[in-house]
Amino acid sequence: MTITEMNALTIPDVARLEEECFAHPWTEASIEEAYNNPASFFLLARDDDKAVIGYISAYMVRDEAFINNVAVTAAHRREGVARALVDAMLKRVQGNGASFLSLEVRMSNQAAISLYQGAGFEIEGIRKKFYRDPDEDAFIMTKTFDRPHPEDPDGGRWKEGIIL
Ligand SMILES: CC(C)(COP(=O)(O)OP(=O)(O)OC[C@H]1O[C@@H](n2cnc3c(N)ncnc32)[C@H](O)[C@@H]1OP(=O)(O)O)[C@@H](O)C(=O)NCCC(=O)NCCS
Repeated sequence: MTITEMNALTIPDVARLEEECFAHPWTEASIEEAYNNPASFFLLARDDDKAVIGYISAYMVRDEAFINNVAVTAAHRREGVARALVDAMLKRVQGNGASFLSLEVRMSNQAAISLYQGAGFEIEGIRKKFYRDPDEDAFIMTKTFDRPHPEDPDGGRWKEGIIL
């Protein structure tokens, strides 16, 4: 399995993952819009045949970074794919000068909560009725960075095109 930058050709692959994994999936158009936003970060997980098996997206506003979604195809769950995606995104946003990475997660989504806790995120609050169909509260989970990533001690911009 490898983690790479997303490119525009894989928007349909990400849309397929969204369809498979979420009750209210992002459409291809919404993925394309987010992908074209310079504040966005999209990373893919590929298997040994280069097929897209997972993705993560996030965005940054000033030094604040937020995960939109993480999804892994059912056939490749519990293989460490999501953990690799989250770790790569932590490195990516920290390298771009983020002070923290935060997200909302359904309070019933134990798999995702464990994933984020394992990566060092802490529950810092609750957003009431954040989700619909079914209505549900969200945990706000955040990982704060004390200092720039060790591989990028100046907190400078991430180098373009790097494979993580
Ligand atoms: C949540 C999801 C992304 C996890 O992907 P994954 O690749 O299977 O996760 P990993 O194999 O990297 O697991 C990392 C850790 O997450 C936790 N975890 C993952 N799946 C779990 C499950 N079904 N039950 C409990 N804990 C789970 C565990 O702590 C695991 O560590 P371990 O395997 O050492 O116990 C995946 O189940 C998924 O795509 N679900 C549907 C979409 C979704 O809910 N996304 C999150 C939205 S916020």
